Parts: sequence; structure tokens; C-alpha cells
Amino acid sequence: MDVLELADIDSIQFGGHDGLVTEVRGYQNYNISNSWVDPVGNPTKKRPWADTQIKSNDFDRFMEKIQPDTYADFGSNLGYYVFRAAFEHGAHATGIDYSAEYINVSNLLVARHRLRSDCTFMHSNLQQLNSVDKYYDFMTVFNVIHHLYNRTEKYMDMDRLLQDFANKADSILFEVPTEKDQKGHKWTMDTGYKEALFVESAQKIFSSVKHYPGQTEHRPYYLCIK
Ligand SMILES: C[S@@+](CC[C@H](N)C(=O)[O-])C[C@H]1O[C@@H](n2cnc3c(N)ncnc32)[C@H](O)[C@@H]1O
Repeated sequence: MDVLELADIDSIQFGGHDGLVTEVRGYQNYNISNSWVDPVGNPTKKRPWADTQIKSNDFDRFMEKIQPDTYADFGSNLGYYVFRAAFEHGAHATGIDYSAEYINVSNLLVARHRLRSDCTFMHSNLQQLNSVDKYYDFMTVFNVIHHLYNRTEKYMDMDRLLQDFANKADSILFEVPTEKDQKGHKWTMDTGYKEALFVESAQKIFSSVKHYPGQTEHRPYYLCIK
């Protein structure tokens, strides 16, 4: 798996021998101990479209509604939603990311905070995941789909892309950077990628496709249920 960028990590403060809380700062921002994980709002003006505190509140609401026993976060990044699902919602939680850096950091946090039985991290992408015999009650796909379309996996086929996700879980919550989003546009321009295309494909594959407002106007959520 070729990784197209370095991991977006600003700092990880462990606090030495006596450090009970690790402070993780980067694309995701949070503090974690052996018994809790708490989101931190954007500490800088970087990444205004991805505030961990705001998205965590949305995430908690979806988890309360769905109450999954098994949960996977695809594009798990620094692992926040996996840790949150295990601590706050009692789910068996798995993180999947194609970046070995993110997976290794997440596994280090598992070791440091003794989370072995609750949280698992897999170094994989979607095409590899499809050959693994794993299936989840609920999956989140936050801000990744525009990368899979014509960048990190080059699907260039929305039906096939969404079908590969649908093969892996009963319910899937997508956060979709649209063609009007700055990054959505940057990574998909001139490919035909559009929010309308996502909805059209999702409606063919899932029995329920519901729109929810997102963190920004151009990053809505879609909850898709088979
Ligand atoms: C924009 S970040 C979003 C991170 C996280 N999902 C969130 O919203 O907080 C995209 C993430 O997806 C991962 N990623 C990109 N392409 C991937 C692929 N083909 N398979 C798995 N992970 C991928 C990146 O390494 C990164 O962690």
C-alpha cells in the first residue's frame, strides 16, 4: 500500500512514567487515560472543517441511536472514534487505516492504556478489507470517500465503491465532502464525483439513505442502512 502523505500529527504528550493521560494533537484532538477518552476542540485555526469536539457530539448521538455491538471506523486516523466507541458506548471497536503511521500510533495508545481486548487496529485499505472475513453492525466513513474515488484507491465507480463498503456492515454513516467542498473538489475534480452521484448509488444499494447536516454545509452525513 503506497501512502500518499505523512500522518497529520502535531504532538503526542505521554507525560513520562507518571503520565496517566496522553494528549493527542493533530487531525484528531483528544485526551485519553486508562478509563476515558475526551475530545478536544480545534486547538489551532488549522483544519476548520474537522473539529473533534463537534464531530464527537454527532458521533455519540448516532451511537446512541444504533447501539452497535461491533463497530468499525474506516480511515480511523489517530483512533479517536474507536476509543470513544469502546469507552463510552461499550462496543467492540476496530479502526482501519491505510497509513502504517496512524495504525502504529493507535496501537501504541492501546498498549499504554491497556485497551487490548476492546480496541483493534488493522492496517488495510478497502480493497484489501473486502478479502477479509469481517463484518460489523455499524461502520463510520468520515471524510475518506473523496480520497478513495480517484486518489488512494482510484475506484472511479461510485456503485462499486459503495458496494464494497456495504459488504462490510449493516449500517454505515458516511461524512461526504461534496464537489463544492474545497478538499472534495481538490481530490476529485474532472472525475464526475458529485454528492448527487453518491446519493443515487447509495439508494440502489441500501434500503434507507438519510441525510443529516454536517459540520459544514458541504460535508453532510448520510446514514445508510441495508
Ligand atoms: C481526511 S482524514 C479523515 C480522518 C478521520 N476519518 C476523521 O474524519 O477524523 C482521511 C483518513 O483516511 C485514511 N485513508 C485515506 N485513504 C485510505 C484508504 N484507501 N484506506 C484506508 N484509509 C485511508 C488516511 O490515512 C486518513 O487517516
